[in-house]
Amino acid sequence: ALVLWGTDNLKSEGGPIAQALALLGAAPRFDSFGRLCGACLLPTEQLSHPRIDVMLTLSGIFRDLLPLQTRMLAEAAYLAAAADEPAHINFVRKHALAHMAKKNCDLETASLRVFSNADGTYGSNVNYLIDSGRWDDEDELGDVFAKRKCFAHGRNGQAAAQADIMASVLAGVDLAYQNLESVELGVTTVDHYFDSLGGISRAAEKQKGEAIPVYIGDHTRGTGVVRTLADQVALESRTRVLNPKWYEGMLKHGHEGVRHIECHLTNTVGWSATTGQVAPWVYQQFTQTFVLDETMRDRLAALNPKAAVKVVNRLLEAERRSFWRPDAETLDALKRAGEELEDRLEGIGAEVAA
Ligand code: BEZ
Ligand code: MG
Repeated sequence: ALVLWGTDNLKSEGGPIAQALALLGAAPRFDSFGRLCGACLLPTEQLSHPRIDVMLTLSGIFRDLLPLQTRMLAEAAYLAAAADEPAHINFVRKHALAHMAKKNCDLETASLRVFSNADGTYGSNVNYLIDSGRWDDEDELGDVFAKRKCFAHGRNGQAAAQADIMASVLAGVDLAYQNLESVELGVTTVDHYFDSLGGISRAAEKQKGEAIPVYIGDHTRGTGVVRTLADQVALESRTRVLNPKWYEGMLKHGHEGVRHIECHLTNTVGWSATTGQVAPWVYQQFTQTFVLDETMRDRLAALNPKAAVKVVNRLLEAERRSFWRPDAETLDALKRAGEELEDRLEGIGAEVAA
């Protein structure tokens, strides 16, 4: 399962689109004016691998910006499914035929692999659930993703809700992957990464009945490197939110800087919730750095009292959801800090002092 964003493809001249085509063993097709008009299959003899069944979830921005490329990807999946090739070198066809037999549908439907939102809508809404904390079960996150992103694009350029084929493709997902192409943003900087890549991972886990590995292709320097999500979150935690150079820089921005620190934590919770692949030490060290250190806690509270309370409540939420298991002393200190910060926000301490 690949996540494709619009801006990433524009900036990289279609790098992630090319990854999808390469997996399928397909290439762009151009008309006599040199304009993109669809896809064609590369002969299997030219491929170093079988045709890999790849499911694409497009951001709403990709869908809006790149309609020709959307159609090309849909055609590539259809052509792969339609190719008269043996199952062991063409997994798209293998899975499409199995789906047809099971659901009694046509090849056009069974080969749908390009999914996005309904027209005019963006994102999976998993980010809003995480931010509100109003969800009980991880499956809810996968369900909201599947409901939001089940609009399949066919090679005729039309999109329609196709929950059945989406569920069938999700059940066969072996791994989820997204590229990272900017040093400005990491997977814990903004909520869109866990909203899309985390969302699809959770939706696949639900259909499959087991967690799938999640990978990030870091293309921010050189020829790129692929990391597990766990390694990527650990790396970003060490270099960004737990790194004094980073957080002191943020704190120079005052109110907004504290909000950024809180966002990193909430996004990390988003990854725990959707993939379960965040190491517990991230929460432990976050707590030590920003809450148990009294001077730091006071600085956060003075600059942005609401974000400071949100930080503590989010850490407690993460504990309740078993994303980490602090010892009794840490948990107690966290609860006391939370009460103190809330009192301060409500002006209770100030009144007493006055
Ligand atoms: C996109 O370009 O597709 C995109 C950008 C930011 C957030 C989500 C998607
Ligand atoms: Mg109170």
